[in-house]
Amino acid sequence: MLVLGIESSCDETAAALVNDKKQILSSAVLTQMEHKNFGGVVPEIAARSHLEHIDEILEAAFHQAGCQPQDIDAVAAAAGPGLIGGVTVGVMAGKALALALNKPFIAVNHLEGHALTPRLTSDVSYPYLLLLTSGGHCQILIVKGVGEFERLGTTIDDAAGEAFDKVAKMLGLGYPGGPIIEKMAALGDEDRFVLPRPLYNSPDCNLSFSGLKTAVRKIIESYADDGLIEHAVLRKRDCADICAGFQKAVTDCLLHKLRKAVAIFRQRCPQGRYMVVAGGVAANIYLREHLQQLADTENLIFAAPPIKFCTDNGVMIAWAGIERAQKDLFNDLDFKPRPRWPLDENAPKAAGAGGVKA
Ligand code: KG4
Ligand code: ZN
Repeated sequence: MLVLGIESSCDETAAALVNDKKQILSSAVLTQMEHKNFGGVVPEIAARSHLEHIDEILEAAFHQAGCQPQDIDAVAAAAGPGLIGGVTVGVMAGKALALALNKPFIAVNHLEGHALTPRLTSDVSYPYLLLLTSGGHCQILIVKGVGEFERLGTTIDDAAGEAFDKVAKMLGLGYPGGPIIEKMAALGDEDRFVLPRPLYNSPDCNLSFSGLKTAVRKIIESYADDGLIEHAVLRKRDCADICAGFQKAVTDCLLHKLRKAVAIFRQRCPQGRYMVVAGGVAANIYLREHLQQLADTENLIFAAPPIKFCTDNGVMIAWAGIERAQKDLFNDLDFKPRPRWPLDENAPKAAGAGGVKA
């Protein structure tokens, strides 16, 4: 089975061809550079850019794979959650292809794309414990099967990736923040600045990064004579130390709540063997190393997608499409793109599970 995956929910226009033998035949990704000076993604600009580039990205995916549109068995498109203008572009392109080729259409939840990718790139079996951490979401889930998620915790404010982006913006480092902060952090002293660990003492698996971001802001402001962040003068050394301290604080918070989640996972799924990370922030090597250590301590097998498949791409959508197609989970062509689309919307609510960001 060969499936085309289309992704356009944030600032990557992407398409890929993947088959059910776990072969990635192609992956075309265009990362929009138009947002660089804004410190975040501008939805209008993103939607326009998706529209301008979707055709060439689709062509590139078929060209790289050396196949023709008629060769595919289904079209999968990320249909949310995300910026609605962009999502609509990808979904419309997917539906048009499905209609023209007379192939089934699959509306994929972008988060399910991230969540299932480790099953494509490693040998991960259900059920598994998942840290899903991206620019828009930060959740800890048990993945029991396609469309079967139990959310154990979620951020109650910012996502971890969003916090990386906002801290980078405050430091004038550009967008996206994660990779730049990771680079700077490697040069810094992670213990120089004392930063808070929000919700550390709450008994649940929820997370919070907004207070951490504010604490970083106060440190940067202390480098300005008039206390205004835009007048702050930091040496490269100070900037690196802030980045290192921030990255450590985020990692500590994630590990602490994941440790709690492991205990719940063990109780609910005694047969579960895997601890998995996915989403853009999973590209962070410092975080991956610490997660590997936690998994080793807990006697779980750790899996993370290769770095290039952590941030948004078409492969993850194609793979989720394959898993859905294998269960005959297809969608009608009148499926409406969904700006909000919680992964666990069909699951019974677990006691103590948080539910703020969807
Ligand atoms: O999954 P993704 O590509 O898009 C969303 O679904 O949001 O994730 C993008 C996020 C951005 O916030 C970006 O700063 C973050 O992932 N990110 C990283 C790294 N690479 C990307 N965060 C920390 N360290 C990285 N190396
Ligand atoms: Zn994503």
